Amino acid sequence: MLSHLLHLDGIESVVLETKSREFVEQRVRAGVLEQGSVDLLSSTGVGERMRREGLVHEGIELLFNRRRHRIHFKELTGRSITVYGQQEVVKDLIRARLEAGGQIFFGVEDVRVSAFDSDRPVVRFRDQDRERELTCEFIAGCDGFHGVCRPAIPAGILRFYERAYPFAWLGILARAKPASEELIYSNHERGFALLSMRSPSVTRLYLQCQPDEDLAQWPDARIWDELQTRLASGPEFRLEEGPVFQKGVTPMRSFVAEPMQFGRLFLAGDAAHIVPPTGAKGMNLAIADVRVLSRALKAFYSSGTSDQLACYSDNCLRRVWRAQHFSWWMTSMLHRMEGPDSDFDHRRQLAELENVTSSRAAATNLAENYVGWPLE
Ligand code: DHB
Repeated sequence: MLSHLLHLDGIESVVLETKSREFVEQRVRAGVLEQGSVDLLSSTGVGERMRREGLVHEGIELLFNRRRHRIHFKELTGRSITVYGQQEVVKDLIRARLEAGGQIFFGVEDVRVSAFDSDRPVVRFRDQDRERELTCEFIAGCDGFHGVCRPAIPAGILRFYERAYPFAWLGILARAKPASEELIYSNHERGFALLSMRSPSVTRLYLQCQPDEDLAQWPDARIWDELQTRLASGPEFRLEEGPVFQKGVTPMRSFVAEPMQFGRLFLAGDAAHIVPPTGAKGMNLAIADVRVLSRALKAFYSSGTSDQLACYSDNCLRRVWRAQHFSWWMTSMLHRMEGPDSDFDHRRQLAELENVTSSRAAATNLAENYVGWPLE
Protein backbone atom coordinates (compact mmCIF):
# COMPACT_ATOMS: atom_id res chain seq x y z
CA MET A 1 0.00 0.00 0.00
CA LEU A 2 2.84 2.38 0.88
CA SER A 3 4.59 1.62 -2.40
CA HIS A 4 1.35 2.30 -4.26
CA LEU A 5 0.75 5.64 -2.47
CA LEU A 6 4.36 6.73 -3.06
CA HIS A 7 4.11 5.82 -6.72
CA LEU A 8 1.05 8.09 -7.07
CA ASP A 9 3.19 10.91 -5.68
CA GLY A 10 6.03 10.15 -8.08
CA ILE A 11 8.30 8.62 -5.43
CA GLU A 12 10.18 5.46 -6.36
CA SER A 13 10.28 2.46 -4.03
CA VAL A 14 11.33 -1.18 -3.98
CA VAL A 15 9.33 -3.80 -2.06
CA LEU A 16 11.12 -6.78 -0.51
CA GLU A 17 9.01 -9.79 0.48
CA THR A 18 10.44 -12.94 1.99
CA LYS A 19 7.47 -15.10 0.96
CA SER A 20 6.33 -16.00 -2.54
CA ARG A 21 3.61 -14.09 -4.38
CA GLU A 22 1.37 -17.20 -4.21
CA PHE A 23 1.84 -17.45 -0.46
CA VAL A 24 0.94 -13.84 0.37
CA GLU A 25 -2.01 -13.93 -2.01
CA GLN A 26 -3.47 -16.98 -0.24
CA ARG A 27 -2.57 -16.26 3.38
CA VAL A 28 -5.77 -15.88 5.37
CA ARG A 29 -5.96 -12.87 7.66
CA ALA A 30 -8.67 -10.53 8.86
CA GLY A 31 -11.43 -9.33 6.63
CA VAL A 32 -12.98 -6.09 7.82
CA LEU A 33 -12.18 -2.73 6.22
CA GLU A 34 -13.16 0.51 7.89
CA GLN A 35 -14.84 3.14 5.77
CA GLY A 36 -11.62 5.20 5.73
CA SER A 37 -9.63 2.24 4.36
CA VAL A 38 -12.30 1.57 1.72
CA ASP A 39 -12.30 5.22 0.67
CA LEU A 40 -8.51 5.30 0.39
CA LEU A 41 -8.36 2.11 -1.70
CA SER A 42 -11.11 3.52 -3.95
CA SER A 43 -9.72 7.02 -4.33
CA THR A 44 -6.27 5.67 -5.23
CA GLY A 45 -7.57 3.38 -7.97
CA VAL A 46 -7.32 -0.04 -6.31
CA GLY A 47 -10.93 -0.42 -5.15
CA GLU A 48 -12.65 -1.73 -8.25
CA ARG A 49 -12.82 -5.43 -7.27
CA MET A 50 -13.47 -4.55 -3.63
CA ARG A 51 -16.51 -2.51 -4.66
CA ARG A 52 -17.75 -5.45 -6.73
CA GLU A 53 -17.01 -8.35 -4.37
CA GLY A 54 -16.81 -6.73 -0.91
CA LEU A 55 -19.84 -6.98 1.34
CA VAL A 56 -20.96 -3.65 2.78
CA HIS A 57 -22.29 -4.02 6.33
CA GLU A 58 -24.28 -1.33 8.09
CA GLY A 59 -24.05 -2.94 11.52
CA ILE A 60 -23.04 -5.92 13.65
CA GLU A 61 -24.90 -8.09 16.13
CA LEU A 62 -23.99 -8.76 19.75
CA LEU A 63 -25.28 -12.08 21.12
CA PHE A 64 -25.64 -12.80 24.86
CA ASN A 65 -28.18 -14.70 26.96
CA ARG A 66 -29.20 -16.42 23.68
CA ARG A 67 -30.48 -13.14 22.20
CA ARG A 68 -29.08 -11.07 19.36
CA HIS A 69 -28.94 -7.27 19.51
CA ARG A 70 -28.08 -5.14 16.52
CA ILE A 71 -25.72 -2.16 16.61
CA HIS A 72 -26.75 -0.03 13.64
CA PHE A 73 -23.53 1.67 12.48
CA LYS A 74 -25.06 3.55 9.60
CA GLU A 75 -27.82 5.07 11.68
CA LEU A 76 -25.50 5.88 14.60
CA THR A 77 -22.49 7.18 12.67
CA GLY A 78 -23.42 7.53 8.99
CA ARG A 79 -20.58 5.12 8.19
CA SER A 80 -20.35 1.43 7.38
CA ILE A 81 -17.70 -1.31 7.07
CA THR A 82 -16.80 -3.62 4.19
CA VAL A 83 -16.01 -7.32 4.53
CA TYR A 84 -13.22 -8.11 2.05
CA GLY A 85 -10.33 -10.45 2.89
CA GLN A 86 -6.91 -8.99 3.56
CA GLN A 87 -5.35 -11.30 0.98
CA GLU A 88 -7.74 -9.86 -1.61
CA VAL A 89 -6.45 -6.37 -0.81
CA VAL A 90 -2.93 -7.78 -1.14
CA LYS A 91 -3.75 -9.28 -4.56
CA ASP A 92 -5.19 -6.00 -5.82
CA LEU A 93 -2.18 -4.02 -4.62
CA ILE A 94 0.40 -6.41 -6.07
CA ARG A 95 -1.36 -6.30 -9.41
CA ALA A 96 -1.54 -2.51 -9.40
CA ARG A 97 2.15 -2.16 -8.55
CA LEU A 98 3.31 -4.63 -11.18
CA GLU A 99 1.08 -3.11 -13.86
CA ALA A 100 2.57 0.31 -13.07
CA GLY A 101 6.09 -1.11 -13.44
CA GLY A 102 6.72 -1.25 -9.68
CA GLN A 103 9.51 -3.42 -8.31
CA ILE A 104 8.59 -6.21 -5.93
CA PHE A 105 11.16 -8.88 -5.09
CA PHE A 106 9.38 -12.01 -3.82
CA GLY A 107 11.11 -14.81 -1.96
CA VAL A 108 14.13 -12.79 -0.86
CA GLU A 109 16.27 -14.09 1.99
CA ASP A 110 18.49 -12.78 4.73
CA VAL A 111 17.33 -9.15 4.65
CA ARG A 112 19.57 -6.81 6.67
CA VAL A 113 19.01 -3.07 7.21
CA SER A 114 21.80 -0.70 8.18
CA ALA A 115 23.01 2.93 8.13
CA PHE A 116 19.51 4.21 8.81
CA ASP A 117 21.00 6.74 11.23
CA SER A 118 22.62 8.36 8.18
CA ASP A 119 20.90 9.87 5.14
CA ARG A 120 21.86 6.87 2.97
CA PRO A 121 20.40 3.75 4.57
CA VAL A 122 21.38 0.41 3.06
CA VAL A 123 19.41 -2.79 2.65
CA ARG A 124 21.21 -6.04 1.88
CA PHE A 125 19.43 -9.23 0.88
CA ARG A 126 19.78 -12.41 -1.14
CA ASP A 127 17.67 -12.80 -4.27
CA GLN A 128 17.82 -16.19 -6.00
CA ASP A 129 21.21 -16.91 -4.44
CA ARG A 130 22.58 -13.52 -5.52
CA GLU A 131 23.76 -11.10 -2.87
CA ARG A 132 22.18 -7.66 -3.49
CA GLU A 133 22.68 -4.24 -1.95
CA LEU A 134 20.25 -1.37 -2.14
CA THR A 135 21.23 2.16 -1.15
CA CYS A 136 18.17 4.29 -0.53
CA GLU A 137 16.92 7.39 1.24
CA PHE A 138 14.41 5.85 3.61
CA ILE A 139 13.50 2.39 4.85
CA ALA A 140 9.91 1.53 5.77
CA GLY A 141 9.78 -1.44 8.12
CA CYS A 142 6.42 -2.90 7.05
CA ASP A 143 7.67 -6.38 7.88
CA GLY A 144 5.33 -7.48 10.64
CA PHE A 145 5.81 -8.35 14.29
CA HIS A 146 8.47 -10.99 13.52
CA GLY A 147 10.30 -8.85 10.94
CA VAL A 148 13.93 -7.70 10.97
CA CYS A 149 13.42 -3.91 11.11
CA ARG A 150 12.29 -3.33 14.69
CA PRO A 151 15.05 -5.53 16.20
CA ALA A 152 17.62 -3.64 14.09
CA ILE A 153 17.02 -0.47 16.12
CA PRO A 154 19.69 -0.18 18.82
CA ALA A 155 18.74 -1.24 22.35
CA GLY A 156 17.48 1.52 24.61
CA ILE A 157 15.82 3.57 21.84
CA LEU A 158 12.39 1.96 21.81
CA ARG A 159 10.00 1.48 24.66
CA PHE A 160 7.65 -1.50 24.52
CA TYR A 161 4.15 -1.77 25.94
CA GLU A 162 2.74 -5.26 26.02
CA ARG A 163 -0.14 -7.39 27.27
CA ALA A 164 -0.67 -11.08 26.63
CA TYR A 165 -4.11 -12.69 26.82
CA PRO A 166 -4.66 -16.16 28.28
CA PHE A 167 -6.71 -17.25 25.26
CA ALA A 168 -6.63 -17.38 21.45
CA TRP A 169 -9.02 -17.83 18.53
CA LEU A 170 -9.48 -21.01 16.56
CA GLY A 171 -10.60 -19.83 13.11
CA ILE A 172 -12.06 -21.74 10.19
CA LEU A 173 -13.16 -20.99 6.65
CA ALA A 174 -15.95 -23.21 5.37
CA ARG A 175 -17.86 -23.55 2.15
CA ALA A 176 -21.27 -22.81 3.60
CA LYS A 177 -23.76 -19.98 3.40
CA PRO A 178 -23.17 -17.59 6.34
CA ALA A 179 -26.02 -18.01 8.83
CA SER A 180 -26.38 -14.25 9.17
CA GLU A 181 -25.89 -11.33 6.81
CA GLU A 182 -23.94 -9.47 9.48
CA LEU A 183 -21.16 -10.39 11.88
CA ILE A 184 -22.29 -11.91 15.19
CA TYR A 185 -20.06 -11.45 18.24
CA SER A 186 -21.15 -13.88 20.95
CA ASN A 187 -20.46 -13.82 24.67
CA HIS A 188 -21.23 -17.39 25.81
CA GLU A 189 -20.43 -19.10 29.10
CA ARG A 190 -18.36 -21.68 27.16
CA GLY A 191 -16.33 -18.87 25.58
CA PHE A 192 -16.44 -16.26 22.84
CA ALA A 193 -17.52 -17.07 19.27
CA LEU A 194 -17.67 -14.96 16.12
CA LEU A 195 -19.57 -15.50 12.93
CA SER A 196 -18.13 -13.72 9.91
CA MET A 197 -17.98 -14.37 6.17
CA ARG A 198 -15.97 -13.80 3.03
CA SER A 199 -18.68 -14.15 0.39
CA PRO A 200 -22.31 -15.31 0.13
CA SER A 201 -21.03 -18.92 0.02
CA VAL A 202 -17.99 -18.82 2.34
CA THR A 203 -18.30 -18.38 6.09
CA ARG A 204 -15.52 -17.44 8.52
CA LEU A 205 -16.00 -18.58 12.10
CA TYR A 206 -13.96 -18.25 15.27
CA LEU A 207 -14.02 -19.89 18.72
CA GLN A 208 -12.18 -18.77 21.82
CA CYS A 209 -9.60 -21.46 22.68
CA GLN A 210 -6.33 -21.93 24.57
CA PRO A 211 -3.19 -20.19 23.19
CA ASP A 212 -1.47 -23.60 22.84
CA GLU A 213 -4.60 -25.33 21.51
CA ASP A 214 -3.82 -28.56 19.69
CA LEU A 215 -5.72 -28.51 16.38
CA ALA A 216 -5.60 -32.31 16.30
CA GLN A 217 -8.13 -32.21 19.14
CA TRP A 218 -10.54 -30.26 16.94
CA PRO A 219 -11.99 -32.43 14.20
CA ASP A 220 -14.55 -30.56 12.09
CA ALA A 221 -17.52 -32.16 13.88
CA ARG A 222 -16.35 -30.86 17.26
CA ILE A 223 -15.81 -27.36 15.85
CA TRP A 224 -19.31 -27.28 14.37
CA ASP A 225 -20.87 -28.57 17.63
CA GLU A 226 -19.12 -25.91 19.63
CA LEU A 227 -20.04 -23.17 17.16
CA GLN A 228 -23.69 -24.30 17.13
CA THR A 229 -23.75 -24.08 20.93
CA ARG A 230 -21.99 -20.75 21.29
CA LEU A 231 -23.83 -19.01 18.44
CA ALA A 232 -27.31 -20.38 19.21
CA SER A 233 -29.96 -17.69 19.43
CA GLY A 234 -33.43 -19.21 19.68
CA PRO A 235 -34.71 -22.63 18.62
CA GLU A 236 -34.84 -21.86 14.89
CA PHE A 237 -31.24 -20.69 14.57
CA ARG A 238 -28.82 -23.16 12.96
CA LEU A 239 -25.47 -22.55 11.33
CA GLU A 240 -25.29 -24.03 7.90
CA GLU A 241 -22.36 -26.49 7.94
CA GLY A 242 -20.03 -27.26 5.05
CA PRO A 243 -16.52 -28.43 4.15
CA VAL A 244 -13.82 -26.71 6.23
CA PHE A 245 -10.94 -25.69 3.95
CA GLN A 246 -8.80 -23.65 6.34
CA LYS A 247 -8.15 -23.97 10.06
CA GLY A 248 -5.75 -22.06 12.31
CA VAL A 249 -5.10 -20.54 15.73
CA THR A 250 -4.75 -16.75 16.09
CA PRO A 251 -2.85 -15.64 19.19
CA MET A 252 -4.07 -12.58 21.11
CA ARG A 253 -1.64 -9.89 22.05
CA SER A 254 -1.52 -6.13 22.58
CA PHE A 255 1.85 -4.58 21.76
CA VAL A 256 3.18 -1.10 20.96
CA ALA A 257 6.74 -0.02 20.22
CA GLU A 258 7.44 3.70 20.71
CA PRO A 259 8.55 5.73 18.89
CA MET A 260 7.72 4.16 15.52
CA GLN A 261 10.86 5.65 14.01
CA PHE A 262 14.62 5.80 14.38
CA GLY A 263 16.65 7.94 11.98
CA ARG A 264 15.49 7.08 8.50
CA LEU A 265 13.85 3.80 9.47
CA PHE A 266 10.07 4.08 9.89
CA LEU A 267 8.03 1.22 11.34
CA ALA A 268 4.47 0.67 10.12
CA GLY A 269 1.71 -1.83 10.87
CA ASP A 270 2.44 -4.97 12.89
CA ALA A 271 6.17 -4.16 12.98
CA ALA A 272 5.22 -1.42 15.46
CA HIS A 273 1.98 -2.58 17.03
CA ILE A 274 -0.32 -5.56 17.47
CA VAL A 275 -3.94 -5.46 18.61
CA PRO A 276 -6.04 -8.46 19.64
CA PRO A 277 -8.31 -9.34 16.70
CA THR A 278 -11.64 -8.44 18.38
CA GLY A 279 -12.82 -5.39 16.44
CA ALA A 280 -10.67 -6.09 13.38
CA LYS A 281 -8.34 -3.10 13.61
CA GLY A 282 -4.99 -4.62 12.50
CA MET A 283 -5.12 -4.10 8.73
CA ASN A 284 -6.84 -0.73 9.11
CA LEU A 285 -4.11 0.56 11.42
CA ALA A 286 -1.44 -0.52 8.95
CA ILE A 287 -3.22 1.33 6.15
CA ALA A 288 -3.54 4.45 8.33
CA ASP A 289 0.20 4.33 9.21
CA VAL A 290 1.35 4.20 5.60
CA ARG A 291 -1.03 6.97 4.63
CA VAL A 292 0.64 9.22 7.26
CA LEU A 293 4.09 8.09 6.10
CA SER A 294 3.39 8.62 2.40
CA ARG A 295 2.14 12.15 3.06
CA ALA A 296 5.20 12.97 5.17
CA LEU A 297 7.52 11.63 2.46
CA LYS A 298 5.63 13.61 -0.17
CA ALA A 299 6.14 16.80 1.90
CA PHE A 300 9.83 15.93 2.25
CA TYR A 301 10.38 15.43 -1.48
CA SER A 302 8.25 18.34 -2.63
CA SER A 303 9.38 21.04 -0.20
CA GLY A 304 12.35 19.57 1.63
CA THR A 305 10.68 19.81 5.05
CA SER A 306 11.14 17.04 7.60
CA ASP A 307 8.47 18.36 9.98
CA GLN A 308 5.88 15.77 9.03
CA LEU A 309 8.43 12.96 9.16
CA ALA A 310 9.38 14.10 12.67
CA CYS A 311 5.69 13.89 13.70
CA TYR A 312 5.11 10.50 12.05
CA SER A 313 5.26 8.49 15.24
CA ASP A 314 3.09 10.85 17.32
CA ASN A 315 0.53 11.10 14.54
CA CYS A 316 0.24 7.33 14.19
CA LEU A 317 0.32 6.57 17.90
CA ARG A 318 -2.80 8.60 18.68
CA ARG A 319 -4.83 6.28 16.45
CA VAL A 320 -2.88 3.20 17.57
CA TRP A 321 -3.68 3.78 21.23
CA ARG A 322 -7.35 4.47 20.52
CA ALA A 323 -7.44 1.17 18.66
CA GLN A 324 -5.54 -0.52 21.50
CA HIS A 325 -8.16 0.61 23.96
CA PHE A 326 -11.09 -0.37 21.72
CA SER A 327 -9.67 -3.82 20.92
CA TRP A 328 -8.86 -4.49 24.56
CA TRP A 329 -12.34 -3.33 25.61
CA MET A 330 -14.14 -5.50 23.02
CA THR A 331 -11.94 -8.44 24.02
CA SER A 332 -12.62 -8.02 27.73
CA MET A 333 -16.37 -7.62 27.18
CA LEU A 334 -16.76 -10.75 25.09
CA HIS A 335 -14.30 -13.45 26.24
CA ARG A 336 -14.69 -15.96 29.02
CA MET A 337 -12.21 -15.16 31.78
CA GLU A 338 -10.68 -18.00 33.78
CA GLY A 339 -9.71 -17.85 37.44
CA PRO A 340 -11.23 -16.96 40.81
CA ASP A 341 -13.06 -13.88 39.47
CA SER A 342 -14.64 -15.57 36.45
CA ASP A 343 -18.22 -15.51 37.77
CA PHE A 344 -17.93 -11.85 38.67
CA ASP A 345 -16.39 -11.10 35.27
CA HIS A 346 -19.24 -12.81 33.46
CA ARG A 347 -21.94 -10.82 35.31
CA ARG A 348 -19.97 -7.62 34.75
CA GLN A 349 -19.77 -8.41 31.01
CA LEU A 350 -23.52 -9.02 30.77
CA ALA A 351 -24.18 -5.67 32.48
CA GLU A 352 -21.87 -3.98 29.98
CA LEU A 353 -23.54 -5.70 27.03
CA GLU A 354 -26.97 -4.65 28.36
CA ASN A 355 -25.71 -1.10 28.50
CA VAL A 356 -24.17 -1.15 25.00
CA THR A 357 -27.35 -2.58 23.48
CA SER A 358 -29.88 -0.41 25.33
CA SER A 359 -28.22 3.00 25.60
CA ARG A 360 -27.94 4.93 22.35
CA ALA A 361 -24.92 6.80 23.73
CA ALA A 362 -23.10 3.56 24.58
CA ALA A 363 -24.03 1.96 21.24
CA THR A 364 -22.80 5.06 19.40
CA ASN A 365 -19.48 4.82 21.19
CA LEU A 366 -19.01 1.23 20.05
CA ALA A 367 -20.16 2.09 16.52
CA GLU A 368 -17.84 5.11 16.16
CA ASN A 369 -14.86 3.07 17.25
CA TYR A 370 -15.75 0.10 15.08
CA VAL A 371 -16.28 2.02 11.83
CA GLY A 372 -13.04 3.85 12.57
CA TRP A 373 -11.82 7.39 12.61
CA PRO A 374 -11.49 9.36 9.38
CA LEU A 375 -8.01 9.31 7.87
CA GLU A 376 -6.20 12.62 8.20
C1 DHB B 1 -13.03 -10.95 11.25
C2 DHB B 1 -11.96 -10.84 12.11
C3 DHB B 1 -12.08 -10.08 13.23
O1 DHB B 1 -11.03 -9.96 14.07
C4 DHB B 1 -13.25 -9.45 13.57
O2 DHB B 1 -13.34 -8.72 14.71
C5 DHB B 1 -14.31 -9.55 12.71
C6 DHB B 1 -14.20 -10.31 11.56
C7 DHB B 1 -12.92 -11.79 10.03
O3 DHB B 1 -11.87 -12.40 9.83
O4 DHB B 1 -13.88 -11.85 9.26
